[in-house]
Amino acid sequence: MAKPASRFVCTNCGAVTPKWNGRCETCGEWNTIVEDTPDSGPGGLQKPRSAARKIAFVDLAGTAAPPPRAPTGIAELDRVLGGGLVPGSAVLLGGDPGIGKSTLLLQAAAALTGLGRRVLYVSGEESVEQVRLRARRLGLAEAKMELAAAINLRDIAASLEDAKDAALVVIDSIQTMWLDSIDSAPGTVSQVRAAAFELIRLAKTNRFAVALVGHVTKEGAIAGPRVLEHMVDAVLYFEGDRGHQFRILRGVKNRFGATDEIGVFEMTETGLAEVPNPSALFLAERRGNVSGSAVFAGLEGTRPVLVEVQCLLAPNAGGSPRRSVVGWDSGRLAMLLAVLETRCGLRLNASDVYLNIAGGLRIAEPAADLAVAAAVVSAAADQPTDPAMVFFGEVGLSGEIRQVAQAESRLKEAQKLGFGCACLPRRVARGNRPLAAPEGLALQEIGHLGDLVG
Ligand code: TYD
Ligand code: MG
Repeated sequence: MAKPASRFVCTNCGAVTPKWNGRCETCGEWNTIVEDTPDSGPGGLQKPRSAARKIAFVDLAGTAAPPPRAPTGIAELDRVLGGGLVPGSAVLLGGDPGIGKSTLLLQAAAALTGLGRRVLYVSGEESVEQVRLRARRLGLAEAKMELAAAINLRDIAASLEDAKDAALVVIDSIQTMWLDSIDSAPGTVSQVRAAAFELIRLAKTNRFAVALVGHVTKEGAIAGPRVLEHMVDAVLYFEGDRGHQFRILRGVKNRFGATDEIGVFEMTETGLAEVPNPSALFLAERRGNVSGSAVFAGLEGTRPVLVEVQCLLAPNAGGSPRRSVVGWDSGRLAMLLAVLETRCGLRLNASDVYLNIAGGLRIAEPAADLAVAAAVVSAAADQPTDPAMVFFGEVGLSGEIRQVAQAESRLKEAQKLGFGCACLPRRVARGNRPLAAPEGLALQEIGHLGDLVG
């Protein structure tokens, strides 16, 4: 039999040529032409091409009902998903190896079966016996899910064709899936992409939700240059420090909901426990009356979260001073230190600065500026901040304190956790709605960072 003729495709513009070239004649890019054998690429299981059929166009209006959702029974997971699993959708769960992805999905699968839904769990990493052992440890041995250990995608796809009544299919992990029509090894970009393409197609045609587990590589990306993130409907990252018991589930993409929600879990002896009130957990180990600590009233999605910001100043042993940050943006810290030095006269250039967000949470909000500044000022003066005070506010380059969103829910959370006062941006008279301070919470409004230092 004649070898199938190979062709060459430009990865930049998609032009097809019969022979390789250093430069694409269509778009002019260099080194973008790759060989493309006819049976490779996404959709490796495709049947022979059939005659074209006309597609049907419909009205834009249609029946605009929100997508139906199947709550998983794990409230912290449902919150990040935007209310539950959407039938026919694909969710990618990424995270470092050992962070708890399999545990979370096994618990979610068991919770769904408890609600009477059908769930199929395909493990490519562990044997059936290993998954059973884990289920027993989690106290879920009785859950009525269908379990298989498999990596051959052709077999898995054939088995999923009749899973129309399933609510969820778990694939753990996408990097172990293998398509025999592609020459490369499992885990390579072409395998991962083709396997995901096929599984997503199955989910869409059979209307089940598919959850793909994806290990994050050392460079921090899910294998394949983020190829999977573009293909799926929702991307959730499971993060946390293995030394800490907290695990944060963060939505980074969601076609059916908001992306800034987090779910908080605690890894226990018997699996992941939901943490409905994360502030209490993040502040549990706080010791009052130490300098260099300030409580930030933050916001994660719609949820207020209080966390402790810690700062340590150490004498610099010579050379340029160190600025080390865990859980916050180092560029932002550099800016804040510059403002403190230039606008408030604080001398920090002889000190190494270490900043830490206690509990392993990662903060992205500019609203944390004021709490960080308070921690730095407290460390520099060796004076503890008021242990009953929370801080929030953005700091501008001239040292002015700027308004931040949702001050009221931050204040409410602080009051709920027994704080007595809050340091926040001064309200500007621009017809601002008066701030409804919760009862028993004193407000200390400041307009300039200098008020904190003075
Ligand atoms: P796992 O879900 O296997 O991680 P992933 O699938 O992301 O690689 O989690 C493994 C870790 O979780 C392992 O270090 C042990 C810990 N663990 C517990 O602490 N308690 C438990 O009940 C379980 C099942 C795991
Ligand atoms: Mg796993």
